[in-house]
Amino acid sequence: MTKKPCIIVTAPVPQDLRQLLDAAFDTVDVPAGQSPLEALPQSQWAAIDGMVCTVKTRVDGALLDALPALKVVSNFAVGFDNVDMDAANARKVLVCNTPGVLDGAVADLTIGLMLCVARNLVAGDAFVRSGAWTKGPFPLATDIRGKTLGLLGMGRIGRVVARTARAFDMDVIYHNRKPDAQAESEGLARYVERDALFAQADVVSVHIPLTAETRHSVGAREFGLMKKTAILLNTARGAVVDEAALIDALKNGTIAGAGLDVMTQEPLPVSSPLIGMPNVVLQAHIGSATVETRRAMIDLAVHNLLDALGGKQPKAMVNGQAWPLARQAGANA
Ligand code: GLV
Repeated sequence: MTKKPCIIVTAPVPQDLRQLLDAAFDTVDVPAGQSPLEALPQSQWAAIDGMVCTVKTRVDGALLDALPALKVVSNFAVGFDNVDMDAANARKVLVCNTPGVLDGAVADLTIGLMLCVARNLVAGDAFVRSGAWTKGPFPLATDIRGKTLGLLGMGRIGRVVARTARAFDMDVIYHNRKPDAQAESEGLARYVERDALFAQADVVSVHIPLTAETRHSVGAREFGLMKKTAILLNTARGAVVDEAALIDALKNGTIAGAGLDVMTQEPLPVSSPLIGMPNVVLQAHIGSATVETRRAMIDLAVHNLLDALGGKQPKAMVNGQAWPLARQAGANA
């Protein structure tokens, strides 16, 4: 009897999909956030062919060297900054992700954060509950209609944000590595230079991946370019923003407010100065956290792995050059 491939599962997989995995593979569970090397006895390492994991699993050269038969890492996320892509490419390990299926949910959260910050909705709720309303009216807030939204990054999510913001009569500008012909031809948004984006926007929203180049790329210089009345939104990755510089900019009134779904350290420690700031709305990295979207994501992540190890080209590959699977089983070869 041929031996089934062996996979590590660190992502939450619903039962019906789990049955598919169990039918095709020998599955080994590793708690999210724990390194497979800590969780599994060394005797098992050489047998691992694939992995479906959350962004809490760090996939680096040391892990890939310790798992010589690992051929596919299927990330349960669109972002893949938990994976050292140079290390994966060098070892011809295929990396898959979940693009497309979460665009709407992340865009909706972005718009929600914008409304919460501009209209002061979180404080407004506390105002009513505390009885403060009986003593006087809630302070006036700020319109988003007619204002300019600046998108740093115009990928799939940026485009949905642009489309939704247009329904709020916002003028949408964007900066991207290169102009997006589709967005321009649909009249969704206008391309501007990077500095112009920060200087002209009333709301700047970050939609770029975290890479070595983008880490801390939004910092004191960029906040200095922004309007004093402007709001920063980040639903991408916390470390794209220099958080210490953001805290200074919010404290000093360099910018007016922020809506953050992502932070440098997650969960955000309660000691963070962000916690006490009234001009900041915080969420617990929930951009894609709806029942429907998470289901679509795990469906794609599981099928990416089933396809790849089954010899069929998966739907969503980060490094398509690693397809067809090139890495040979180490100990099993
Ligand atoms: C969530 O943060 C994702 O990258 O899918």
